[in-house]
Amino acid sequence: MTDQPQAHTDTLTKAPPSRPDDPLARPASRELRPLLALLPFLRPYRGRIVIALVALAIAAGASLAVPAAVKEMIDLGFSRDHADDLGIYFLGLLGVALVLALATATRFYYVTWIGERLVADLRREVYAHVVGLSPEFVEVTRTGEVLSRLTTDTALIQTVVGSSASMALRSMVTLIGGMGLMVYTSPWLSLMAGIVVPATVLPLIIFGRMVRRLSRDSQDRIADSSAMANESLSAIQIVQAFTREAEERRRFAASVERSFDTAVSRTFARAGLTAIVILIVFGAIVGLLWHGASQVIAGELTAGTLSQFVLYAVLVAGSVGTLAEVWGDIQRASGATERLIELLNIPIDIAAPKKPQHLPTPIQGAVSFHAVTFTYAARPERSALRDINIDIRPGETVAIVGPSGAGKTTIFQLLLRFRDPTIGAITIDGIDIRDLDPTELRRTLGLVPQDTILFAGSVADNIRYGRLDASDEDVEAAAKVAAAHDFITALPDGHATQLGERGARLSGGQRQRIAIARAVLKNPQVMLLDEATSSLDTESERLIQDAFEILRKDRTTLVIAHRLSTVQGADRIIVLEDGRVVETGRHDDLINAGGLYTRLAAVQFAGA
Ligand SMILES: Nc1ncnc2c1ncn2[C@@H]1O[C@H](COP(=O)(O)OP(=O)(O)O)[C@@H](O)[C@H]1O
Ligand SMILES: [Mg+2]
Repeated sequence: MTDQPQAHTDTLTKAPPSRPDDPLARPASRELRPLLALLPFLRPYRGRIVIALVALAIAAGASLAVPAAVKEMIDLGFSRDHADDLGIYFLGLLGVALVLALATATRFYYVTWIGERLVADLRREVYAHVVGLSPEFVEVTRTGEVLSRLTTDTALIQTVVGSSASMALRSMVTLIGGMGLMVYTSPWLSLMAGIVVPATVLPLIIFGRMVRRLSRDSQDRIADSSAMANESLSAIQIVQAFTREAEERRRFAASVERSFDTAVSRTFARAGLTAIVILIVFGAIVGLLWHGASQVIAGELTAGTLSQFVLYAVLVAGSVGTLAEVWGDIQRASGATERLIELLNIPIDIAAPKKPQHLPTPIQGAVSFHAVTFTYAARPERSALRDINIDIRPGETVAIVGPSGAGKTTIFQLLLRFRDPTIGAITIDGIDIRDLDPTELRRTLGLVPQDTILFAGSVADNIRYGRLDASDEDVEAAAKVAAAHDFITALPDGHATQLGERGARLSGGQRQRIAIARAVLKNPQVMLLDEATSSLDTESERLIQDAFEILRKDRTTLVIAHRLSTVQGADRIIVLEDGRVVETGRHDDLINAGGLYTRLAAVQFAGA
């Protein structure tokens, strides 16, 4: 971490919203088309969708039947000649209500089920994809942003698929059916209504656009603030040690205010949209009622027909209102879907080739770099490795030394295929690692990284991460090799002790020994140790050193070293400076050569 100060300051000073190199940067909005991307996710649930649609159609039909029943009730039921039939009409109305209730309940259940299912599937898919993306992706996209997409965006889609969509569909059916029946009941009154309907559509479209843009902004702002919180909470000790709490609070508060402001603008636009629609629709109904009433008085229309017509008009108006309301939701979900699909469509750049080659069995462990030059995408102006040629024989132990920033860790990054060389190739047993399935490649490599990373879970879980099917005895044996056995048994629950998030309950040296045990348990053909003992005291270091002597016997070992003891024992030392190999040889040869190694040894290994 101390090797890359610029990377850290970058995340602290960068303005939250648009970063040009962000692979998740938004393209211009494309209306509702993004929602079509959900179709493949809905396909498995066709049966349930059909049930929901049938229930929806029945419910819509039942609600359209109510005004007709009411007309009969008013025109016939209230006249003295049909006093006996009164009960039948009311019973009929009750029957309609029963159908409506059952159909609505069925629709609600199935539609909600589909919404929940879809979101569960989406979350799983997106996570499955993201976890396979190259580390490069995580470097340019903050994890908080990805998390926000997994939660906030999928929740939005769930609202729409699980309720808004069916509300919209039901409203559409009642709207069309209601309008048809209005014409059937009274063409003249319908004509009048027909003039005002288009007037409602225009503001709907204009405000709808606005709501959609604002909702995207608002999602972005929420993602920003959660990314920010995630970042500072995971570095809480740094924040407090540098007494930056006030500054962090201010930054987070500002970001929360930004999302509040966008949410308010969105709500304001939506409120305006709703008000305009209601006004226009009710204005029209009042006008119609007025006109219809004078027709009834003139005897051109029965009271029942006018009631029926007005009820249809109310249904239609209600549908338009619902549509206007859920329209915003649907557009928000469209934006959310777009963001999720973008995430799903980020290509996996480190993928297995179509016809992967296989390493020989047993693997020999010969590792070669052929004229490898590598430039980080984030730092195009300066190559981290330049024209590296290394040939490591099976079973050899090679130490890599050099000043901080020389490119030592980068060599491991390329070997693990977290990134591919810009020029040149890397081979294992003569096979270009790009021709291998990355999974097969990484199975043969064991890594003890520079910064130890543990997971929340027990000590044993963390060691077993190296090989999931390892027995308890294997785990214990690996801990012994890594000189971790004594401190583990001294923990309150031994191997079952919970470590807390990121292993926060252990010291740096203890974490490092667990990471070593993890790699030992994996028992790889090629071991990569990146300053694996940097956090250890001299005593544990000596214990581990003995273990390494045994370990390196049957495997190729690359060790990025910072202590003389490690370097002295190596078969060969490679000295890196500024991305180039400047010296190679054994300790005894290099120490007197008067080059970089001589100087490094004088400073770095002083006192050893
Ligand atoms: N993810 C990255 N993006 C851009 N530059 C990087 C990245 N990681 C490392 N570098 C740069 O590449 C160079 C070599 O880094 P590294 O291999 O970590 O050095 P070492 O391990 O020898 O200290 C350094 O100048 C470092 O700043
Ligand atoms: Mg390093």
